[in-house]
Amino acid sequence: MSESTGPRPALDLEAFPASFAWGTATSAYQIEGAVAEDGRAPSIWDTFSRVPGAIDNGDHGDTACDHYHRWPEDIALMKELGTDTYRLSVAWPRVVPGGDGPVNKAGLDFYDRLVDGLLDAGITPSVTLYHWDLPQALQDRGGWTVRETAEHLAAYTTAVAERLGDRVTRWATLNEPLCSGWIGHLEGRMAPGLTDLTAAVRASYHLLLGHGLATQALRAAAPGARIGLVTNHSTVAPASDRPEDLAAAARMDGHTNRWWLDPVYGRGFPADMRELYGVELPERPGDAELIAAPLDWHGLNYYFPVTVADDPEGPVPYAREVRLPDVPRSGMDWQIDAGGLEALLLRLTEDYGVRELYVTENGSAFPDTVGPDGAVHDPERTGYLEQHLAACARAVRKGVPLAGYYAWSLLDNFEWAYGYDKRFGLVHVDYATQKRTVKTSGRRYADVIRAHREATAG
Ligand code: IFM
Repeated sequence: MSESTGPRPALDLEAFPASFAWGTATSAYQIEGAVAEDGRAPSIWDTFSRVPGAIDNGDHGDTACDHYHRWPEDIALMKELGTDTYRLSVAWPRVVPGGDGPVNKAGLDFYDRLVDGLLDAGITPSVTLYHWDLPQALQDRGGWTVRETAEHLAAYTTAVAERLGDRVTRWATLNEPLCSGWIGHLEGRMAPGLTDLTAAVRASYHLLLGHGLATQALRAAAPGARIGLVTNHSTVAPASDRPEDLAAAARMDGHTNRWWLDPVYGRGFPADMRELYGVELPERPGDAELIAAPLDWHGLNYYFPVTVADDPEGPVPYAREVRLPDVPRSGMDWQIDAGGLEALLLRLTEDYGVRELYVTENGSAFPDTVGPDGAVHDPERTGYLEQHLAACARAVRKGVPLAGYYAWSLLDNFEWAYGYDKRFGLVHVDYATQKRTVKTSGRRYADVIRAHREATAG
């Protein structure tokens, strides 16, 4: 990496153990493209992105970053950054195009080549089985609102693990079930685009059941697997100390955090939220134990904190987000506060007893452009990265067993309902030419990784 990023605020890199894993993350639908190649069938995102008005600019993932064809170049970029690990997701509709039934060998072949390419480059793959791209065929039969979808996730997991489990050890079942459950079924801003509380609560239940069944399938098919769940969280602050706002913050915390963590860590679904939703859960004997199956690690995705006020007339959970004035914000209009990351890492460790943690996603979007010098200067993203790495270091000093950090994202990519305008990459992508350019933030990340290696070299 030739360009120096100059003097920077000191980072306490010695806080991180020598074994600390530095990575980048992406997901299949956001980067692969090739949506109709080698037997892939449509997912709910292929369908949703054709709904008029669903996605900014009418964007879709048909080509995305063309990673399906350009993956060797993308692995070379990871090497240039000096990362140890790469978090990718497997596209269910490539591997089992019908959702259940026959396995598509050509789909698995792609991930086989990718995994081998990563290992040849000395980069450890971390594979997520479900990052939102449900086969449309399953949506047509009820999607996550029906139990069978959780069972089909387990069968698909077995197919992937039988093929890749001899080389992949770090596995995650789901990415951010909150987004699939709440944003996809309650808020309607993500696929499948429903706004139905009963459907959302049932989907949330079956997603976590699917996590439990997929964990069981992984343990059987890949005995060496180290298995985790990736969840996204926000710290929740009340807008005032009025009792109503304090109660609203507790509800939002239940909706955003406890609903997704309590059952996984053996506490069952929180009673206050069950009452608030008022939807009967499709529980069967043995489900709670499956959902709470012991994990080897937990992945935290963190982007922003929220502040809420009571909103009795508003949608579930009757807590309205309050926009704080004069706070730094990213191009997503999300508040920037690295303290939230530190707090959530501590909470997962101290309240939930997690013994191995990764920050599986963290990053920021800003409207980057390629300058006349051919470079992409992104000081805001660089600052965001530094602040959040500093928060990780503080958490580690306080005893958090943090084993790695994955920057979201390796590449600019398809940012779901926001299309391609929101750029999260450490590497800029010119979508017209597919030219990749490492941004200044990517160079800074490379410097950090190198400095950490030097600081901890035995
Ligand atoms: O792009 C997404 C990713 O797919 C899941 N986590 C949040 C990212 C930024 O919005």
